[in-house]
Amino acid sequence: MKIAPSVLSCDFSIMGSETERVSKAGADFIHLDVMDGHFVPNITFGAPVIKYIRKYSPLPFDVHLMISEPLRYIDDFAAAGADIITFHVESDSDIQSTIDRIKAHGKKAGLVVKPNTPVETVFPYLEQLYMVLIMTVEPGFGGQTFMYDMMPKVTKLKDEIVKRRLNVLIEADGGINTGTVGECAKAGIDVSVSGTGIFKAKNAAVAIAELKRIARVYE
Ligand code: DX5
Ligand code: ZN
Repeated sequence: MKIAPSVLSCDFSIMGSETERVSKAGADFIHLDVMDGHFVPNITFGAPVIKYIRKYSPLPFDVHLMISEPLRYIDDFAAAGADIITFHVESDSDIQSTIDRIKAHGKKAGLVVKPNTPVETVFPYLEQLYMVLIMTVEPGFGGQTFMYDMMPKVTKLKDEIVKRRLNVLIEADGGINTGTVGECAKAGIDVSVSGTGIFKAKNAAVAIAELKRIARVYE
């Protein structure tokens, strides 16, 4: 199981050193939640902030765009140092054009589904994707409760990936902690995002190691 700490739960006034801290604590990706106050009822940060924290970590930057018009901003996020750019199937941008734009920059493309969106909506694009993100909370805020009823979507997606002999990663995001990561591993999730579970822990390295240890039991 790969672990992607979400900086949404860190102290934004010291985002650089917080990114460095979790990078040195055994994280695999840095998860960056971009919210525009329109697609979701919350506002976080954009490409300029990502550009400044880029130098604090050598890890892949996994940028989760919760914005209405991702296509308009792909160039900015690519230039800021994103490695994986994940956008919502429910956004207003044309999905194919947005994937094309991400790939034109040599970046990895991901698609995300909100809890009420069927996972089949990503199937037409699977061959072109590096990752599919299944939301396990309604996007917008950290610290919410994990939705166990999203696991059948994960299984369905996993079956399709295996059937087509693809290598697409499955990521889950929201409410993942030591109590829920086992369920993620059991369902076939490859990457778990965790915000509060890591940033609010006393020791990030211990928290990440514990998530990985529990996941291994079920993998
Ligand atoms: C929610 C974000 C998540 C969130 C996860 O919209 O996409 O990445 O930060 O935080 P926790 O782990 O606290 O649920
Ligand atoms: Zn996220």
